[in-house]
Amino acid sequence: MVKVPEEIRKTFEKQRVIPFATASKNGIPNVALVGMWWWEDEETLVVVDNYLNKTKTNFMENPVAAFNGWADGKSYLVKGNVEYQTSGTLYEKVRIRATSGQRQFPGKAAVVIKITEVFQETGGENPGIKII
Ligand SMILES: Cc1cc2nc3c(=O)[nH]c(=O)nc-3n(C[C@H](O)[C@H](O)[C@H](O)COP(=O)(O)O)c2cc1C
Repeated sequence: MVKVPEEIRKTFEKQRVIPFATASKNGIPNVALVGMWWWEDEETLVVVDNYLNKTKTNFMENPVAAFNGWADGKSYLVKGNVEYQTSGTLYEKVRIRATSGQRQFPGKAAVVIKITEVFQETGGENPGIKII
């Protein structure tokens, strides 16, 4: 696990709807947009599973994921290990998020991503390099 600096976490928060990339065991890629998510702490991103389909199939057999965030002219990629939680504290938070707005969402589970790597994706010098 790594600690994601506040500036980088904010980049993702500013974009809000972020791409959630996964791959099957056989390397079949998928990317889905997610807007219901939050940083639980410096090293943990939580996505609400409302309608995940191929994404879920992929991370259940290959529990890794990647997300890209872009704001204020800067882009970062985070990668991490995925856990699918249908009970516990984070699941309770998911239930609240999914059901407390004007529109009701299924809130099936908390997809908990423990970040393991961070890359800069802005371009320019040293494009795509791992920074954490
Ligand atoms: C703007 C936007 C935000 C979305 N946010 C979420 C989300 O937070 N959670 C979720 O489960 N699905 C969300 N979806 C729906 C998934 O992206 C969509 O169901 C997708 O088809 C998942 O299928 P896949 O996993 O097969 O790619 C969102 C879709 C859009 C367009």
